[in-house]
Order: sequence, then structure tokens, then C-alpha cells
Amino acid sequence: MGESIKGMKRTHYCGQIGSAQIDQKVTIMGWVQKRRDHGGVIFTDIRDRSGLVQVVFNPNLDDDAFAKANQLRSEFVIAIEGIVEARPDGNINPDLSTGEIEIKCVDLRILDVAKTPPIQVEDDLDVGEDLRLKYRYLDLRRPKMQKIMGLRHQIMKTVRDYLDNNNFWEIETPILTKSTPEGARDYLVPSRIKQGRFFALPQSPQIFKQLLMASGMDRYYQIARCFRDEDLRANRQPEFTQIDLEMSFITREDVLEITEGLMRKVFSLVDIEVPEEIPVLTYDEAMARFGSDKPDLRFAMELIDISGLVAASDFKIFSGTIANGGQVKGIKFKGGADLSRSQVDELEEHVKLFKAKGLAWMAFKEDGLKSPVAKFLSDQELELIKEKMKADTGDLLLFVADKPAIVAAALGNLRLKIAKDNNLIPDDTYKFAWIIDFPLLEFDENAERFVAKHHPFTSPIAADIDILDEKPTEVRADAYDFVLNGEELGGGSIRINNRQLQEKVFDALNMSKVEQEEKFGFLLDAFEYGAPPHGGIAFGFDRLMMIAAGTDSIRDVIAFPKTQRATSPLTDAPSEVDPVQLKELGININKED
Ligand code: AMO
Ligand code: AMP
Repeated sequence: MGESIKGMKRTHYCGQIGSAQIDQKVTIMGWVQKRRDHGGVIFTDIRDRSGLVQVVFNPNLDDDAFAKANQLRSEFVIAIEGIVEARPDGNINPDLSTGEIEIKCVDLRILDVAKTPPIQVEDDLDVGEDLRLKYRYLDLRRPKMQKIMGLRHQIMKTVRDYLDNNNFWEIETPILTKSTPEGARDYLVPSRIKQGRFFALPQSPQIFKQLLMASGMDRYYQIARCFRDEDLRANRQPEFTQIDLEMSFITREDVLEITEGLMRKVFSLVDIEVPEEIPVLTYDEAMARFGSDKPDLRFAMELIDISGLVAASDFKIFSGTIANGGQVKGIKFKGGADLSRSQVDELEEHVKLFKAKGLAWMAFKEDGLKSPVAKFLSDQELELIKEKMKADTGDLLLFVADKPAIVAAALGNLRLKIAKDNNLIPDDTYKFAWIIDFPLLEFDENAERFVAKHHPFTSPIAADIDILDEKPTEVRADAYDFVLNGEELGGGSIRINNRQLQEKVFDALNMSKVEQEEKFGFLLDAFEYGAPPHGGIAFGFDRLMMIAAGTDSIRDVIAFPKTQRATSPLTDAPSEVDPVQLKELGININKED
């Protein structure tokens, strides 16, 4: 058992001590980073949240304390009372904030001992992520992780202060609730009192924040936990945090303005400048130019439509596709003409992942044009294509002919792959954009029905409401996404606030009246007692943190994240439960294996 802390009081954090404290007596508490024996003199680095400081144990220390210093090992928890001294010339460490001083120990207490840690508490760590997550409390001791957690706190506080200054109230909404339609699978919680019934964990507070507007709260925000059972990726977690807000009596412009102010404050903490004018692209424009509704604007390589040049071509893959309502578009990989055949094949394999049937290419080499499709195209067509694509010697042109959605997905993703693989994306560059005027509905090929592109409470743009019945696919939504460097950081919309229109949109989504009533009757009812015009947005706080912290894993910015398989190696959740609990819930488990 360790010694008592009684009678000792910390005077400084380790990282705060410097030349200003020379000759002062200080008390510090923390972990032993490492112990070094220098012929009778023992040195240790002591670490706490603020940094490291060096402590010296001289043999003339009283016997007991020196003997204890000899026992110190990495990660022992200790308290030190000592005198701050200037380090001798030549021993100054300019890499350490406390590098000019050291603490000569007067008293040492070992508050707790530690086994040899399975992972080193150091920034340069070379172990698998599962081990890091299993021993997360050790992983979180690393300076890099402590810095990220500190930044997360600071950003959270900035968000709260900004929204408070703008008259938003922080209001909590239920976690045990009913299914909320954000398009993912729900996490369900069985009810014991009403056996056979389930709560759903919220995919977002969407319905509640709208009800709060109907409740007259005017401006709401919440740092909200959301739960979505979906396939995980580098930027997705099953349980994640949103900066969620909603405002009454506003238009889209008001939401964009408030949000831009918020982003300016947040990003100023990490010296990222949010420009005065954030580019606004319509969904159609973003798809046409970048093949994506979250375009990475740090580099060009835009999609160019050459349909007009090849509609009458003898090359049937091009002209036939256009005749069938498709299109032919290309991108230019500047300086890519020297790619080997197998490298080009790899690009073709990549577009096939996005359902393209092939990838036609033209390499403008020093010794002339190389292309498997040139023989099908006339000299004039080739010349016009070269001109339209502004191709020079050394460039590689890549084309996909297909339905617009496939062309966009294939070339949009190819554009990203080429840029990443060839380091075409400049470092330390931040390109923000708003994407607006999304389609209200999109056709879900699997379900064979329309689904809401954002969520079903999103208002159509007023001018398009009349065509909801005849041309549902052409209806634009009053929705907006906030994009940074090709990442969707946030999304929101102006909402429907009247029962008739809400029912009309539910109808367009093929939702029966019974289903509408069962799922959202309470919201429809609320719209009948005076609901103000309202709208809002939610930011993915963890994604924002990834960019602020400069990391490419969402798990680095969450204290206790889940693995890619939605498990926790630390707690071993999800885990089996006591049969008695299951019985109380009226649940029988049918294991598949
Ligand atoms: P949406 O579903 O677009 O909108 O979510 C808003 C933002 O949340 C982030 N996000 C995620 N982050 C981490 N892991 C996930 N699994 C995950 N899913 C989403 C994204 C996204 O932009 N209720 C609406 C908002 C509104 O209309 O006001 C909503 O939830 O950064
Ligand atoms: P093929 O005649 O099928 O061998 O195709 C000739 C070239 O056209 C190959 O380089 C294919 O990759 C390419 N190609 C085939 N289908 C398409 C398409 N839909 N869009 C672009 N290129 C294609």
C-alpha cells in the first residue's frame, strides 16, 4: 500500500515550474516518467497533465528518502517536496518547458506503485490500437492524448460561451426515447415494465429540438450524444457527440450566420482561419464539378463534361451512353502521362468500386498520344477533347461514361485517390464550403422507394412545394451542409412547421397514414397548436475535433471510444447479461452460432 498524502498539498503543476521559482520550496504530485541512476545521484522525470519536470535525489538526502528513490519505477505515483534550482550549464534542456530548472528533493512519498505498464506512456508508441483501447487509462496519460482532451474541453467551453452569448439555452433531451429517423439502425433498450416494448437511443435530438421550438424556447443548443448502429469508418463512431442547435423565427441565412460565427471562434483556438466569405455551392454544382456533395476544395482536378463533343462519336461506349441519357466526363491528372499500365489498371479497378463499367484514358506522352480508345475517336474529336480538358504533354486524361450519379461517384472518388496517392493536397490548408439546395428526396435502390436526403422534417424550398406531387425528384430542400477539406462537419435545414406539409412529405416517402401517426403523431399534433418557423443545424463534434487536433482517427479525440467493430476492449462491452435480467425483460436469446 502506498503512503498517505495527508499533510501535503500540491503547490504547482509540474509543467508550470521554471526559473521564476528558483530557490522556492514546491510540492508536486504525479507519475514517474523514468528513473536514471548517475553514480549515486538519481534523476527522475515527474509527469502530470501539464508536463514534465526533473527531480534530483542526492545521496545526502535522508536515508529513508534515498532508499525510496531507489525503488522508483515508471508510472509510480509520487509526491515530492523540494527546492527549485537552476540546472548547471550544459544540462539545460531547451526542448522542455521546465528545462532550465530541476527540483532537489527534500521529501518523497510513494503514493502508489505500478506494475510494468503494457504500453509505454510516450507519444511515439508502436502498439496495436486494441492494446491502446484495452489500457486506455495508460494511453490517455500520453502527452499527445492529454493535449487532445484539453483541447476538446476548451472547444466545448468556447461553444457553450458563444451560444450563451447569442441567447441560446442549453436544454437536455431524453436518451431513452423513440426511434428518430436519421437513416441508421437504432440501438434499442428493452423495457422491463412493458415487456416486448423498446426504447430507442436517439440518433439525434432532432424531434425534441423541434418540439422545444414549439414550446417557445426560441433558441436551444445541446452538446448531444447520438447513437447510430451503422457501419463504422475512420470518421464514424456508434456513439458520438453533436453540437446541436435550433432557432425560431429565422431563415437559412440566420442559421448560416450564427454558425459561421461559431466556427470562427472554435477554429481560432487552433489558429485556423475561417474566411469572411465562405463559398456557397449548390448541391448540383458540387456534384457536377467535384462529383461529391462534400467536395475537397484544397485542389482542383475538376470533372469536365465532354458529352457534347462525343455524342455523335463512332465510339459507342461514349455516344451510346449519352443516347441513353447518360454522360461522359473526365478529369485531368496533371503530369500523370507516365503512369505504368498497371498503375492505370489500378485506377480502373478503383472506379469499378463505384459501379463504373470502365475507365477510358489518354496519355499525352513526349512521343505522342497513348490511349486504348483513341482508335475509336476521330482526330477532330481528340483535338476538341484535348482542348476542352486543357491537356498538355505529360498529362493523363481519365473518362467515365455512365449515368450521372455513377460518373460523379466514380470520378469524384478517383479524384480523391489520385490527389492522396500523389500528395497533391497541400498541408495546413483549410477550405470551407456551404453546400445548399440538396434534393429533398433520393431514391433508395435497395428499398425501392424514396427516402429523405436529409431527414423527413426538412422543408422543401418554398418555390418547389407545388411540384412535390408531379416531379418529386426535382424538389429542392432548404437544407445545408458545412464542409471542411472534404469532410461533412455539419448539416441542418429549415424545418416544416405545419401538419399539412409534413403529411405531404411523409406521403411522398410512401409512409402510410397509420405509420405516420404511430411514429410521429406527437410531432404532427404539436404542429397544430402554433409552431413557429424554425431551423437549425448539428455539427459532428468529434469530426471537428479531428481536424482541430490534426488526427485522422476519430478514436483519438474520444476518451473512451469503440473499436471499428463497435466494441470496447476496456470494459468488454457489449457483454452477456445475467439470465435473471433477461427473464425480467421477457427476452429469449436465439444464438445463431
Ligand atoms: P446529420 O445526420 O447530418 O444531421 O448529423 C450531423 C453531423 O453529425 C456528424 N455525424 C457523425 N459523427 C461521428 N460518427 C457518426 N456516426 C456520425 N454521424 C453523423 C456529421 C454530421 O454532419 N438532426 C440532424 C441535424 C439537423 O438537421 O439539425 C442530424 O443529425 O459531422
Ligand atoms: P472495351 O472495348 O470494353 O475493352 O473498352 C475499351 C476501353 O474503354 C477500356 O479502356 C475500358 O476501360 C473503357 N471503358 C469501357 N466502358 C467504359 C465506360 N462506361 N466509361 C469509360 N470507359 C469505359
